[in-house]
Amino acid sequence: MKRRGFPAGIGWTIFFSISTIAGAAATGDGPSTALKALAKECGILIGSAVDYSALVREPIYGDTLSREFSVLTPENEMKWARIHPQQFQYNFSQPDAMMAFAASNDLLVHGHTLVWHRQVPEWLSAGTFTREEMINILRSHIYTVAGRYRGRHLVAWDVVNEAVESDGTLRKTLWLDRIGPDYIDLAFRFASEADRNAKLIYNDFSYEPIGTKSTGVYNLVSGMLARGIPVHGVGFQMHLTTSGIDVSSFAQNMRRFADLGLEIYITEMDVRSRLPATPSQLATQAKIYRDVLDACLGQPACKAFQTWGFTDAHSWIPQFFQGFRAALLFDKNYQPKSAYEALSQRLRECPRPVPPGDSHVR
Ligand code: GLA
Repeated sequence: MKRRGFPAGIGWTIFFSISTIAGAAATGDGPSTALKALAKECGILIGSAVDYSALVREPIYGDTLSREFSVLTPENEMKWARIHPQQFQYNFSQPDAMMAFAASNDLLVHGHTLVWHRQVPEWLSAGTFTREEMINILRSHIYTVAGRYRGRHLVAWDVVNEAVESDGTLRKTLWLDRIGPDYIDLAFRFASEADRNAKLIYNDFSYEPIGTKSTGVYNLVSGMLARGIPVHGVGFQMHLTTSGIDVSSFAQNMRRFADLGLEIYITEMDVRSRLPATPSQLATQAKIYRDVLDACLGQPACKAFQTWGFTDAHSWIPQFFQGFRAALLFDKNYQPKSAYEALSQRLRECPRPVPPGDSHVR
């Protein structure tokens, strides 16, 4: 199966001139062995964050993405600084193009993110707005962005990202400072008003095992549910090192969130390796990917397994963590690594029964 280019009307003539490269996993006559086909049998989505410029510039990037994954997350293109650079100006061209790519390649979209304290535009961070003005700005942003992408393959939103500190208290962000702790409830209410169908997710990092931070997140979302706030799921970012995590504690942690009636998403997994990435490190990395996937498949509330990029050619890791690299499923030349094989093998151990009425699994 070949990737389809951007549909006409998006103005991406560049894409139409690019030839597609059929992926090995999708060629041949047998059933597809692409991750997305295997994941479907397991009743989960498999996804990746996607970088706009790689998608535009490298045909193999889009080909691999559409061949292997069922859901994409715009890596930066829907963040405030990118989509809402001036108070009265939005920039939709890149996220629109990603939505169009998703639609024409049968991918779903996981929106990221409606409220975060990082990657915010200066007009907002340096602005001197009253609480009422900040609430109006937040409402208008969420209505505009979530409203625009409603119903167009967008199945989930990370409504609030990283609002909890490692000690379990609310992080001191511009939102907390200028609106107060109810900014989280407000954001979820606005998102629900803007898009009644998307799953609304609270997303955070380093709360995978049970501990102070995860209990902080648990208290936050259980309080929201008790107040009738429309929160539907929690996202575990899962940015790991080759030291891995305590997977049984993660399973136990997922269980307590699932017991609240929440869905679970692994939203941003990567496993960074110290340089040079030796075969033994890559084997350890592969095992960590497999173990986390295994824990997800063991928890019926776990709906998606998503990585933060898929090729070591395009990853945030080298820039942010000196001396680390090679965190993803494909190497720089788009060759599948042991981590890919480990996921593939585990997915082949399905099918597990798909819960009736599960709206995400097509
Ligand atoms: C966090 C954010 C992502 C991304 C990564 C690093 O996990 O949620 O949007 O910025 O950091 O790239």
